[in-house]
Formats: sequence, structure tokens, C-alpha cells
Amino acid sequence: MNKKLWGGRFKQSVNKMTEQFGASIEFDQTMYAEDIAGSIAHAKGLAKQGIISQADAQAIVAGLNSILNDIKAGKIEFSLEDEDIHMNIERMLTEKIGEAGKKLHTGRSRNDQVALDIRLYMKKSIIETTDNLKQLVSVLVGLAENHLDTPMPAYTHMQKAQAITLAHYLMAYAQMFMRDIDRFYDTFERTDYMPLGAGALAGTTYPLDREYVAKELGFKHIAANSLDAVSDRDFVIEYLANASIAMMHLSRFCEELVYFNTQEFGFITLADTYSTGSSIMPQKKNPDFAELIRGKTGRVYGALVGILTVMKALPLAYNKDMQEDKEGVFDTIDTLNTSLKVFTDMIATATFNTGKMRYSAGKGFINATEVADYLVGRGMSFRDAHTIVGKIVLYAENQNVSIDDLKLAQLKEFSPLFEPDVYKQVSLETSIARRSLPGGPAKQAVLAQIKQVKDQLKLNRV
Ligand code: ARG
Repeated sequence: MNKKLWGGRFKQSVNKMTEQFGASIEFDQTMYAEDIAGSIAHAKGLAKQGIISQADAQAIVAGLNSILNDIKAGKIEFSLEDEDIHMNIERMLTEKIGEAGKKLHTGRSRNDQVALDIRLYMKKSIIETTDNLKQLVSVLVGLAENHLDTPMPAYTHMQKAQAITLAHYLMAYAQMFMRDIDRFYDTFERTDYMPLGAGALAGTTYPLDREYVAKELGFKHIAANSLDAVSDRDFVIEYLANASIAMMHLSRFCEELVYFNTQEFGFITLADTYSTGSSIMPQKKNPDFAELIRGKTGRVYGALVGILTVMKALPLAYNKDMQEDKEGVFDTIDTLNTSLKVFTDMIATATFNTGKMRYSAGKGFINATEVADYLVGRGMSFRDAHTIVGKIVLYAENQNVSIDDLKLAQLKEFSPLFEPDVYKQVSLETSIARRSLPGGPAKQAVLAQIKQVKDQLKLNRV
């Protein structure tokens, strides 16, 4: 005898090893609340359409609610024999309320049931993730508002390039995270389709009211094709792709915090709570958590490639392979949300050593472009100005001074166009202030950017 819920046509049971191998209860129990919500809506729908009696539906709903409370209270032990969360809950329900429990699965398959559960779970997770991203952007905006006048050097090829402000730098990351929020909202819209009624794959003969069930569960649409409804996991892949991009952004930011936090840079000091010591070197204060977030990007990319590979070449419709959609995405949801929270607090508690940033922005010929622009303003072509300033840099470098340390007479040897006003125009403050195009580092431009981000942050797209 085979005691499984599906055991009717079987003479023998699977052995312990394959039972364990095939079971998903260890991880899909994460979706217990979604499974129960889906079953409650399904039972109500069955009764509404006269497919089961109102009394049976009431018994089912009450039974499911009490199971929900028991699970929340930690009173339930799931069983491996019941394979997954769907059969565990159905078994518990029937044990609790008897015959009526056996009617719940009318007009439904585990294929549309699991598709429903994971969609509900992803919708909830997307909101959680966008909330965390918004929190991070708010912190970045707040810091930017405090540092509109803090100069810092910006780099290309890790070589000092031009001066910006700390506010401008922080807002660059705010823009990345705003795009991440947008991507998650886009995915939410495509996740917002209710699959029940698809049955195993070909719909069902029962006169279900799919729109009613969708409404009960807060879905905007019903899935349009039963075959697609049970075999689509695009929305899981999209979450993982969005998460990979968000982790990539966090990882770049962490990398910069790691080197900004070195003695060599000294631009920031991470709080003691976000640093760890060395077991051998007493002087060390390591930026472990920035490194760890950077490192955790790997497992998120791994999950994305994992599910893409699972889905590749899968024939329609449901295949057991698809059970492999869950662990990677659950781990990713957890990793991304935790990384966002840790990062947000880490940046909020860091000290910005603005004196060091300002000093560094004044060194390294960072105003060479400004000097060339000065000559262009006096009628020289940019190409000629570039060559002349290159020679000035070489000369100043040999003297171990900055361009603006050179006397006017020295500058005039390179070009007669230099006048006393050159010093003011190539100063750190002026060179930043003059970069006032939309998107630039000048205070007004950054303020405009901040306002736009703040307005966008208030929008809730879902
Ligand atoms: N545990 C399964 C999963 O996660 C549920 C769906 C099972 N359906 C089936 N026909 N075996 O994918």
C-alpha cells in the first residue's frame, strides 16, 4: 500500500532516500501563509460557484485559519512523507475537519497551486525589497544634503580626474538604486497574474470564477493561458536578475568604501560597529561587512544562473525540475534584503573625513581641465590648450607644486593668454561651481537632482 495523497495507482512506496530527495517541505514551508491564503480563496470560490457547499467552505476556512495560527505559534511539525507544503497542509486540514477537507483540491492541481504560492510570495518580497531600497536612497539623499559643498576627487582608471562634491558622488549611487526600484516594480506588474484555474495544465471543467479568486488574493489580472500559467517562472528569474544588478551596485559601493576606509585614502571611517579586529594584528580595523556584501554578490549571481539553467530547454508544462526554483530565490531575497539593511546602517554611521577629501581634491593636477578651459575662454582651440596644459603639468610635477602654485610669469611662459584671473577660475570651488549643467556637481544642479529623487521616492507604483 502507498499512503501518499496521490497513492491510489501505486503498489509500492518510494524508499526513504528518494522520498527525501524529492521532498521540498524543508524549504517550501517558507510559503505556508501564501499556500493557506490561496486555499482559502479557492475554497470560497468553490462555494460561491456552488461546487462545494457553504458549510464545507466554512469548515475549510476555519480549519485553515487554525492551522495558520498553529504554524505561526510553532506548534506544527511538517512531515517529509507529505513531500511539500501543499500536501502537508491538505493532510493537516483533513485530519482536523474530516470529509470537507478532502474537497478543497477540487478543480485545482499542485501545479497551479505552487505557481500561485510563488507568485504571492514574490509579490510580497518585491515590496519588502523596494522598501529597503527606498530606505537606503533616503539615507543617501540625507547625507548628500549635508555635503553639497564638500569637494572630493573623482576618478577614471583609479587616477584622479576632476573635482566633484561628496553630494554628487552619493547621488550617483542614489540614481542606481532608484533604477533598481523601478526594475522591481516592473517585475511586480508581470508577477501580478493569478494562475488558479489553470489546473494541471489544461484548465478545469468546474465553473470556477477566476476573477473572483484573483480579487480575493489581491491580483490585478488572471493568467491568460493555462499551459503558460503552470510553467512560467519568468518572474522568479526577473527578481533574480534585478537582485543581481542591485547587488552589483552595492558591491561597487562596498569596494569604494573599502578603499576610502584605508589609511592611504582616509576619506571615510567606518563605525566600530561595522569594523572587526584581527586575531593577530592588534592595530587592525577591517571593513568586514563591506567586504561581505561585496562577496555575497556571488551567490546571488549563482542563483540567477541556476534558475536560468533549470528552465532552459524545459518542455511544457510543469516538470519536477521546477521545484528547483525556490531555494536560490529564497536565499537571494534574504541576502539582498539583509545586505541592504546592513549597508544602509553602515553608510549612515560612517564618518566622512571631509578635510581629507578636500585636500585630495586640491592635489594631483585635478584642475588641469579647468586651466585648459581657461585658455579656450581666451580664444585658443581646446586641442592646443590641452597640449600646453600638459606641458605645464610636466613642469609643475618636476617642481613638485600644483599648477596654481606657479607664478603668473611662469604661466605666461607657456602662453601669453594667462592673466591674474586664472587663479580664481581654476580654484577648487570655482571649478565645481562652474559645472552647473543639469546632472553636474555644482550645488544647484545637485539640489535639482535631489528634489527629483525625493519626488520619485514618494511614488508607490504598486
Ligand atoms: N513541490 C512541487 C514544486 O515545488 C509542487 C508541485 C508539484 N507538482 C507535481 N505535479 N509534482 O514544484
